[in-house]
Amino acid sequence: MTLRTEVLRLNSVTKDFPNGEGILSLFEPIDLIVNLGDSVSIMGESASGKSTLLHIAAGLEAPTTGSVLWVDNDEEIDVSKMKDSRISMIRNRNIGFVFQNNFLLEDFLPVENLMIPALIAGRSKKEARDFALDILQKFHLEYLAKRRIGNLSGGEKQRVAICRSLINQPKLIFADEPTGSLDQVNAEAVEDILLSLSESSALILVTHNSSFGARCSVRYRLADRKLQREE
Ligand SMILES: Nc1ncnc2c1ncn2[C@@H]1O[C@H](COP(=O)(O)OP(=O)(O)OP(=O)(O)O)[C@@H](O)[C@H]1O
Ligand SMILES: [Mg+2]
Repeated sequence: MTLRTEVLRLNSVTKDFPNGEGILSLFEPIDLIVNLGDSVSIMGESASGKSTLLHIAAGLEAPTTGSVLWVDNDEEIDVSKMKDSRISMIRNRNIGFVFQNNFLLEDFLPVENLMIPALIAGRSKKEARDFALDILQKFHLEYLAKRRIGNLSGGEKQRVAICRSLINQPKLIFADEPTGSLDQVNAEAVEDILLSLSESSALILVTHNSSFGARCSVRYRLADRKLQREE
């Protein structure tokens, strides 16, 4: 028997947005369980609600109804019931998020960008720097050490952004179109890195790239307001 360690659970999540006179109701109640070691892809048409669902699961947006639980060592954190000020601290420690546009600080070095979330989480400057350098080295990015983010290529920036998402050793890593702005060679390098992460954590990925989606161990399609599991 394989032991499954649950790291994320969505219970009956819905999301409504005001839409002119009416309400845009994005989902029928969505349930989702993600286990450690899973790489989960969510594909679907534009405007089907993929980014919104990912933001809800990552505690960046509140669901209209339902709950979002992050599970860590038998501790369940109900993100959907938490105040914003507390969520941002817990999010910084528990999850990594990789966006299509990397949101790195352009005037700073890669190592400095990685250090910021570690310092916010309470690590000393030395610890934060040592750990940031270790991660950059692990992904063979030491050669960027002396170059400001603004001078890096799109693919290099995205690799640095992935490294930053790992700085606090999150069990949950979310990625929204992480290869959307990259050419094929860079996209494949980023795919390889992200898929390798699910060995020690779980990856939840939104992508329009069907070959990347197909490489994930668990695949879903968001269509007709439902999250449907694919074979
Ligand atoms: N804050 C908001 N207020 C009102 N409507 C919103 C808001 N955020 C998203 N929407 C609407 O919800 C729907 C789903 O948006 P979402 O960004 O989740 O789609 P998506 O599946 O990620 O699309 P894409 O593939 O183009 O990125 C869209 O119709 C969008 O306009
Ligand atoms: Mg989107």
